[in-house]
Amino acid sequence: MGYYESIRDIVGHTPLMKLNRLGPVNGVNLFAKLEYMNPGGSMKDRIGIQIIKEAEEKGELKPGGTVIEATAGNTGIGLALAAVIFGYRTILVVSGKFSEEKRNMMRALGAELVETSPEGGIDESIIVADEMAEKIPGAFLAHQFKNEANTRAHLVTGEEIWEDLDGKVDVLVAGAGSGGSISGIAKALKKHNPKIKVVLADPVGSILGGGDPGVYKVEGIGNHFIPEIFDRSIADEVEKVRDEDAYYMARIMALKEGVIGASSSGEALAAGIAQAYRSAPGTNIVMVFPDRADRYLSENIYHFEKELSDYDISDHIKRYEKDLKIYDRE
Ligand SMILES: Cc1ncc(COP(=O)(O)O)c(C=O)c1O
Repeated sequence: MGYYESIRDIVGHTPLMKLNRLGPVNGVNLFAKLEYMNPGGSMKDRIGIQIIKEAEEKGELKPGGTVIEATAGNTGIGLALAAVIFGYRTILVVSGKFSEEKRNMMRALGAELVETSPEGGIDESIIVADEMAEKIPGAFLAHQFKNEANTRAHLVTGEEIWEDLDGKVDVLVAGAGSGGSISGIAKALKKHNPKIKVVLADPVGSILGGGDPGVYKVEGIGNHFIPEIFDRSIADEVEKVRDEDAYYMARIMALKEGVIGASSSGEALAAGIAQAYRSAPGTNIVMVFPDRADRYLSENIYHFEKELSDYDISDHIKRYEKDLKIYDRE
C-alpha cells in the first residue's frame, strides 16, 4: 500500500534531480541531491534520528531524558523532529544571529529554546549548552561536531546516490559545517569506487578548506575551527566560493529549475560549475543541496531589490551564463 506509518519513514530517500536547464555544461551532467525534501526541510533530519537512536542504544539517553544541543538551526529542527518521534524533551541553544523562521520551526516541534546573543554566535551557544547539560539530570548532549553518529547518518545518503545513478558517479560536490554529510556520503561512495572525486565547496573566509579566516554570509557551511568529526583527507579538491556566486546561483536555480535550495545549495552549484569546466564531457557531477530557502526569506535570501545584472559574479559563472544563455547581460 502507498502510505507511511510515521514521519520517521519519510526522512531520507530524497530525490536526485538532473539539472536539464542549468546543465549539461561543457558536456558534463549536473545532478542535485535535494535534501531539502526531508520533512523538516534539511538533511539534518537524518542526523537527528541517528543521534537519538545511537544514544538510546548506548544507554546515554533514557526514558524521561532531555536532548540538548547548541545549533544554528537545521540540526535543532532535525533533533526536535526526532525527539517528537522518540518522545524526549529537547532544549536547543540558539544564537540570535540565526533566522527567526528556524527558531519558530523548532518551537513548533515542541523544543524549548534558550537564546544567546547574536554577537556570541554558535561559540557562546556551545558554552551555554555544555553548562545546562551538567545541571539537568538525564541530559544528553547531541554534540554534532563531535558525534560520529552524524557521519554514520550520511552513509545512507551516499548509498542512495550510488543506487540512483547505478554507480555512475564521478564527482561529489558538497559543503561542510560539521563535516558529517560530506564525510559520510564520501565514505559510502568511495567504498564502492575509490576513484570518485570528492570536492569540498568552502566559502571564502572559512578555514575548513584552507585560507584565512574572514566574514562570509552563506549559512550552515564553513567554519573557523576544524570539527572533530571532519575528516579533511576525504576531500580530494577544494573549491573556494564567494558569497555573491552562491547567492546568485540560489536565485538562478529557483528561476530556471524551480529548485528552492538555500545559499549552501547555491554554493554547491557554483562549485559544481567550476568543476564541470575542468572535467571531461560525459562526467556525472552530484551536488548536495542541504536545505530549503523559505526559512531564510526574512533574511532576504533572494535580494529582490537587486537586478540579476547587479551581482558581482566570478568569471567562470559569467562564462557559464554565456554558454547556457541563462541570462543575457547585454
Ligand atoms: C544549510 C546547511 N548547509 C550545509 C550544512 C553542512 O552540513 P554538515 O554539518 O553535515 O557539514 C549545514 C549544517 O548545519 C546547513 O545547515
